[in-house]
Amino acid sequence: MTSHPYQDAALPTADRVEDLLSRMTLEEKVGQMLQLDAREDLDDAVRSRHAGSILHTSPERILLANELVAQTRLRIPLLVAEDCIHGHSFWPGATIYPTQLGMAASWDADLLERVARATAEEVAVTGIHWTFSPVLCIARDLRWGRVNETFGEDPYLIGELASAMVRGYQGDGLSDRTAVLATAKHFAGYSETQGGRDASEADISPRKLRSWFLPPFERVAREGCRTFMLGYQTTDGVPITLNDWLLTEVLKGEWGYTGTLVTDWDNVGRMVWEQHVQPDYAHAAAAATKAGNDMIMTTPGFFEGALAAVEQGLIAPDAFDDAVRRILTLKFDLGLFEDPRMPSEDLDTVVGSRAHADLNLEVARRSLVLLENDGTLPLLPAAPGGALSPAAPGGPLLPAAEPLRVAVVGPLADDAQTQLGDWAGGSGQAGWLDGQPREMITTVLDGLRAVDGLTVRHARGADILTLVDDPLGARFPDGQPRPPLVVPTPPDQGLIAEAVQEVESADVVVAVVGDRIELVGEGRSTATLELIGGQNALLDALIATGRPVVIVLLASKPLVLPASASRAAAVIWAANPGMQGGRAIAELITGAIEPSGRLPISFARHVGQQPTYYNQIRGQHGHRYADLTQSPAWAFGEGLSYTTVEYSALTVLSASFGADDTLAADVTVTNTGSRPVLETVQVYVRDAVTSVSWADKELKTHRQVPLAPGESQRVRIELPVADCTIVDARGRRIVEPGDFELLVGPSSRDEALLRAGFTVR
Ligand code: NOJ
Repeated sequence: MTSHPYQDAALPTADRVEDLLSRMTLEEKVGQMLQLDAREDLDDAVRSRHAGSILHTSPERILLANELVAQTRLRIPLLVAEDCIHGHSFWPGATIYPTQLGMAASWDADLLERVARATAEEVAVTGIHWTFSPVLCIARDLRWGRVNETFGEDPYLIGELASAMVRGYQGDGLSDRTAVLATAKHFAGYSETQGGRDASEADISPRKLRSWFLPPFERVAREGCRTFMLGYQTTDGVPITLNDWLLTEVLKGEWGYTGTLVTDWDNVGRMVWEQHVQPDYAHAAAAATKAGNDMIMTTPGFFEGALAAVEQGLIAPDAFDDAVRRILTLKFDLGLFEDPRMPSEDLDTVVGSRAHADLNLEVARRSLVLLENDGTLPLLPAAPGGALSPAAPGGPLLPAAEPLRVAVVGPLADDAQTQLGDWAGGSGQAGWLDGQPREMITTVLDGLRAVDGLTVRHARGADILTLVDDPLGARFPDGQPRPPLVVPTPPDQGLIAEAVQEVESADVVVAVVGDRIELVGEGRSTATLELIGGQNALLDALIATGRPVVIVLLASKPLVLPASASRAAAVIWAANPGMQGGRAIAELITGAIEPSGRLPISFARHVGQQPTYYNQIRGQHGHRYADLTQSPAWAFGEGLSYTTVEYSALTVLSASFGADDTLAADVTVTNTGSRPVLETVQVYVRDAVTSVSWADKELKTHRQVPLAPGESQRVRIELPVADCTIVDARGRRIVEPGDFELLVGPSSRDEALLRAGFTVR
């Protein structure tokens, strides 16, 4: 029965919001701004603190939380939020896709939109309304523990892929029951770490922010991403939570953003107990509210702090109204007052469905990047008629009738949960599940065992690490668990000998090495990039056998391989490739699919080369250290196919353009080998002379072109001249007239790119 206007679904949202706001007490308004951890005392959160939102809720606790809401005075529904980062991370049996960095290797926005849509379907059906995804941070220092959560190092690619995921999550609009709120995070500059350390001071100028860090955020803000999450960083002494310039002037002012801001985990409390930039919770709560934060994540003390702030005259009682308006608007737009979108009874038909597993396999295949290949791969070239028969470069290894003997070695060959990476059941953030069901995950060993025409033997060969308690104690001062310390496991000669024995009777070795969750994620940056534990010694020993070794680097982020890897037969990078990853890798190795992934991030040769991103500012004094080149081991955009592709005849269709024109150019791309390819044609721009220092070249657009063996296509490139910008000394994004170069080819390496000049008038 409708008794108040806010309960009348026929009224416009704005009217309902004003009516409800007018009925709320100060306590209820302050509480509405709280997003509390559902693993803690829910009764306290919902009934005492009037929380507006919960996060990290298990299936059962959603039901309990809603029962508690029914006992409150105004029965304002909760916004239920979760980190559904690459799939519905913490829901048992949900589909877990490759990490964001892995998916970025597909360079395929439509594919990522489909993944986000499928994720939203799984998330929404379980009673969750809001995912804290995607991450728009630009990866810079590879030591940072959260590189795996990014789309890599390029602002254009980040913008394309983030925009696609936001579209996928938010679907046809919030009234659609399968839509969930997307979050653009972490606003902004969080990834500009010091020494790769997580949540350090981000030493970054406003101009640098505008040049590379802000453009992807601006794009999704203008496209209607409904929420933004702040990072943990402090810039120029100002915690992001209080950064008036970024939050008010840029985001809400220049970009006209009207969405909702959520802080990161206890940002408000940390200003008191960790950063010591606010004397107490009253001051911190007043400052965070005045700065325009709407939802305060996991700072229960914000409640008492805000009330005290009003009492002490630090803030006016109506200062919370705007935040509450924005939160209520989300709830009305989602229709939660009419239907709180509880977990659906038939959710099992959606969560972890067959269709989503198929999509997962598709994106896993596209996430793999072939970095090196001496011709050993594919192991089983397609025979006429599509059947597979064993062969090796230059001819069959064995008569076709004999199965190929494959030794699958390495600590990650059969480690199902590690394959999923961070923000998945086994990564520890949620606590109510240890991992995702083993039977949903295909490891590399499973994948290769399932291939006809191979006999597979397995040996672990090495361990990676053990953990010891941090001597500083099990918890941080705010009660959060302190991660244990990683102790690399020394090489075990017994394990290595076992592996070598398997290898000696094999035709080919597949060595699966990389990192583990303990080396990945928030607060888990690494000082080195090398393979930890016994892995380097294992690779050295395997390669010393003289057998062809295919290294599968199952690593959350670019790592550095040992020197012996230069004698490997092939190297494949599989960023945590999700539940279907092992099958996709087996298909790639055997040749059932073609490699198509391209690096969204550069690989260093040595940790001391940091940073290695391709779009660096033109400097002085050349491109070398005294003891090493600055060039990366594998550069942004690189990735091999099982065929060869030639680029020729790049022609810009006109010599000069006005600033409002669209440049058109053609390039011929030819598959000169004998296997099909999905070629990623990359288009960079170099501004010849700029009024301020600038990146030597920047990716501006790309096309993906399927080519059959022998096929040649004239590919049209179109690029608005308005995209050929720099940010000038006053921080304005402008196109400076003058000479430019269009650079087109298969990677960011200068030597791989064709060039054609053009002029902007
Ligand atoms: C902290 C992380 O930085 C953020 O990405 C995440 O969404 C929140 N915690 C909630 O778990």
